[in-house]
Amino acid sequence: MEPEEKMSSDATRWWTEGVLYQIYPRSYVDSNGDGIGDLRGIISKLDYLAWLGVTGVWLNPTMESPNTDWGYDVSDYTSVHPELGTMEDLEELIDRAGERGIHILLDFVPNHTSDQHEWFMDSRSAKDSAHRDWYVWADPKPDGSPPNNWRSVFGGSAWEYDDPTNQYYLHNFLDTQADLNWWNEDVRNAMEDVLRFWFDRGVAGFRIDVAHAVVKDRELRDNLPATPEDDPRIQRLGQQHTFNMDQPEVHDIIRKWRKLADSYDQPRILLGETFLLDLARVAAYYGTGDELNMAFNFPFVFSSFEAKQLKEVVELTESLLPPLAWPVWTGSNHDVLRFPTRWCDGESDKTRLALVVLMTLRGTPVLYYGDEIGMTDTKIPREELRDPVGQRFWPEDRGRDSCRTPMHWSAEDGAGFSPPGVEPWLRYGDYGACNVEDQKDKSSSMLSLCRELIALRLESDDLRRAGYESVESPENTWVFRRGSTTVALNFSDEAARADESGTVLLSTDPARSRGSVGELSLAPWEGVILAQG
Ligand code: GLC
Ligand code: CA
Repeated sequence: MEPEEKMSSDATRWWTEGVLYQIYPRSYVDSNGDGIGDLRGIISKLDYLAWLGVTGVWLNPTMESPNTDWGYDVSDYTSVHPELGTMEDLEELIDRAGERGIHILLDFVPNHTSDQHEWFMDSRSAKDSAHRDWYVWADPKPDGSPPNNWRSVFGGSAWEYDDPTNQYYLHNFLDTQADLNWWNEDVRNAMEDVLRFWFDRGVAGFRIDVAHAVVKDRELRDNLPATPEDDPRIQRLGQQHTFNMDQPEVHDIIRKWRKLADSYDQPRILLGETFLLDLARVAAYYGTGDELNMAFNFPFVFSSFEAKQLKEVVELTESLLPPLAWPVWTGSNHDVLRFPTRWCDGESDKTRLALVVLMTLRGTPVLYYGDEIGMTDTKIPREELRDPVGQRFWPEDRGRDSCRTPMHWSAEDGAGFSPPGVEPWLRYGDYGACNVEDQKDKSSSMLSLCRELIALRLESDDLRRAGYESVESPENTWVFRRGSTTVALNFSDEAARADESGTVLLSTDPARSRGSVGELSLAPWEGVILAQG
């Protein structure tokens, strides 16, 4: 098959042309009243997801874990966390979703395991243990200090001294998340078996946690210090990730995963968490069509919500991605907080505009549960924090709990998440003010807009497939074309004129009529989709 054909064949359409939806399983629906969302809860909402029009769902970690980092510390890669359900529940979820044309993606965490994983428990037991070399161990410096200057993303040294064998082990995140040694062939094989295990059970793909960072410099050289030109995140860390992330050899590993994924009749997809702030580096993870199917675009996520900057990031992405590479756009996730708060200050006209951006660019949108109703972040008091990041860095960094609170299904006690009277694992946001039930049949609601946008995208060849082209437009507006469809966006409190005409297909303003316009005038924060001619 020609690559072009491959990109638009039925097997790839669900992820190139559809819309993906991220679910934080602990917070979606609690089916058994223990205050924790679960797989059976998700099954009960498949009709909702089909109604909304999503074609793929990515679940945050579903595997057994002591939950020191809420599932990102996996203790058994081929299991289901008992709090979330059973293997049968997961299989049923995959089947029932499949009946509705919804594909299930799981979260793959290859960089590190829990310190409670049996591999690590064996590894730390003795220098000559079978799994010793599966993790990154190194001797102390002569003065007893850590082997090098690497810092953990979650604070402090990335090395933890381990008494039984008088060496340090590496952890780029928490000390309960020991980094695997990806130079070791057995590690590579064991993790490929994990991928196979799930692919064989019908999992349609994986979101890959810190995909760019699994391989570390073999010589464990010191990272270089941060410079004033570096991103504030790097400056806060005090050093660049010179040798502990984004190493050249990681691409070999990703190519092997891709080969495995492509060996299935229905190709499975790899969606990488390429947490890199330089778009050229992100683009490299598409390889020559032989690495990630999609690489998350964090420069877009961290852009300010301004026409000029968003347009620049999109243009740069379009210019740097290799031919046929498929972009992916997201505004919220379980780490970066919710865009209705981050970008839009909780204002609904801005949130409506942001949804238009996400749904009309060339590439796949990934919505985070609640984005469709404009759910905002919820302030969590210090004593209720569950996220180790917030617990450690309060008050400078309040962590990620505020975007992980239970989904708002209805205004009744318990938000339709848990039965009334049950205390949820993380407190509720203001579900009286914003919930699915109230928005569902209201044509002017955020949910209706989101659903309309998804439907329009699925119907429109232009929105699904055509290239992206910027069009010149007044300050604080952003106008682009996708084939013969025009998207015009006003990022300001002032009305704006765009030199565009056509038939209105959709507007963020429910009052705008759908007829043809000669010269488009945009209301403050309005977004309009026009068919030309
Ligand atoms: C990724 C996850 C984040 C987790 C970290 C360590 O960035 O998205 O939630 O804490 O990896 O696994
Ligand atoms: Ca439950």
